[in-house]
Amino acid sequence: MTSNETLIQLEYIDKVKKILDLKRQELKRPLKACVTTFGCQMNAKDSEKLCGILKECGFELIEDEQSSDLVLMNTCTIRDNANQKVYGHLGVLHHMKKKNKDLKIALCGCMMQESSVIEKLKESYSFVDLIFGTHNIFKFAELLYRMYTEDGMIVDIWESTPEIVEDLPTVRKYSFKSGVNIMFGCNNFCTYCIVPYVRGRERSRDPEEILCEIRNLADHGVIEVMLLEQNVNSYGKNLDTPLSFAGLLRKVEEIDGIRRIRFMTSHPKDLSDELIDVCAHSDKICRHLHLPVQTGANKLLKAMNRVYTREYYLELVDRKRTAIPDISLTTDLIMGFPGETDEDVEDTIDLIRRVEYDNAYTFEYSKRTGTPAASFEDQLSPENMKRHFDAVLSVVQETARARCALHTGETAEALIETVSDHDEGLVTGRLSNNLLVHLPGNESMIGQIIPVKLDVCKGFYFMGSRA
Ligand code: 5AD
Ligand code: SF4
Repeated sequence: MTSNETLIQLEYIDKVKKILDLKRQELKRPLKACVTTFGCQMNAKDSEKLCGILKECGFELIEDEQSSDLVLMNTCTIRDNANQKVYGHLGVLHHMKKKNKDLKIALCGCMMQESSVIEKLKESYSFVDLIFGTHNIFKFAELLYRMYTEDGMIVDIWESTPEIVEDLPTVRKYSFKSGVNIMFGCNNFCTYCIVPYVRGRERSRDPEEILCEIRNLADHGVIEVMLLEQNVNSYGKNLDTPLSFAGLLRKVEEIDGIRRIRFMTSHPKDLSDELIDVCAHSDKICRHLHLPVQTGANKLLKAMNRVYTREYYLELVDRKRTAIPDISLTTDLIMGFPGETDEDVEDTIDLIRRVEYDNAYTFEYSKRTGTPAASFEDQLSPENMKRHFDAVLSVVQETARARCALHTGETAEALIETVSDHDEGLVTGRLSNNLLVHLPGNESMIGQIIPVKLDVCKGFYFMGSRA
């Protein structure tokens, strides 16, 4: 069903199209737009929607900012270095705009939901034409119209939105796989994390709408879906007729044409036995679980408001590995959280050795203004932060290498995703357990699931051959 809001936005697309048609005739060349995405899978999914609208409006989408008429940056703010990258890049764009007055610069995404950022942009980056946030990206066509018809910087940031508009045009990066939003926001308020403040409270999408989108994707050749949310496992709690995440997975499994199902990301506190059971008995749900632990020290887990202990986490990992022995486990780790001692680092290292993660994303703690942890005492010095980070990273790499090597000589199904960046004679495939394998091949194999022999382990990936 097409919503009222969608119809309104489709009208704005038409209006922008007319404006751009005139510009194109004037310039006697196509108009080009470049969208740069920072951050997580949800931002990548948002960018596909933004690209869809730009394309419908008549823009040619390119990757080269230098030849663009419109540059849009979809920002992330999870760590401060993400913000610094954006400010740095705005300097480059300012320079471009001085040479080309018609260049339009737009910013959106999580970073724009911070009032301090908006103040700074208004004060020091007045050359930016359009700024909007995470809650109103479905208004992009309308905002583009305003940008082309009004003077000065257009700023439109919402605190939240009751609406979930998911049926606007979109451009998918891959023809054979796609992310699907199942929920928005986060209610967990981990004390270090800015996400609940910039993405708002949890809202689940109606299951029928999700299933309808996936059926439609399958009809268009998609064979792998990734269900997206900050915390997929709390799906369904605020629906009129509650449905668990495991229940939703069962329904997605029934869709013909979908051969692989992934999901991101799972909070350990919500991982139910029902979910473990559904995964264990499924041919389609991939053998990979991303289960962020953040730290192995109970004292810090408490200070982070993660609401589980290391003992609970280890027991959960045990249950998961017993039910699904070939599951690959990955995690997120924050090093240098306020108050972290050498002993806490030892606890984290001990947990990593016990779990033997297949991979881990390791981050230095970044102080985010407005979060409780920003005002905690005992913030670490940069030297201690780096020391803790390096100690953990080397253990993570050691266990990940050892886990990867265990698969040497096996044959596994790989979904071929791309031609290798480094060698045109190679393609890159992803295994169900999320490992990557490079093998001889060509473009015609993209989108196919094929059996591959894992010949040589190269640390965190494989060189393979068609089995
Ligand atoms: N500093 C460092 N890492 C963070 N993350 C979230 N907030 C911060 C922060 N302030 C990490 C967590 C989370 C991942 C997406 O980003 O590990 O799981
Ligand atoms: Fe941030 Fe915690 Fe929510 Fe993840 S679960 S988005 S780390 S608040």
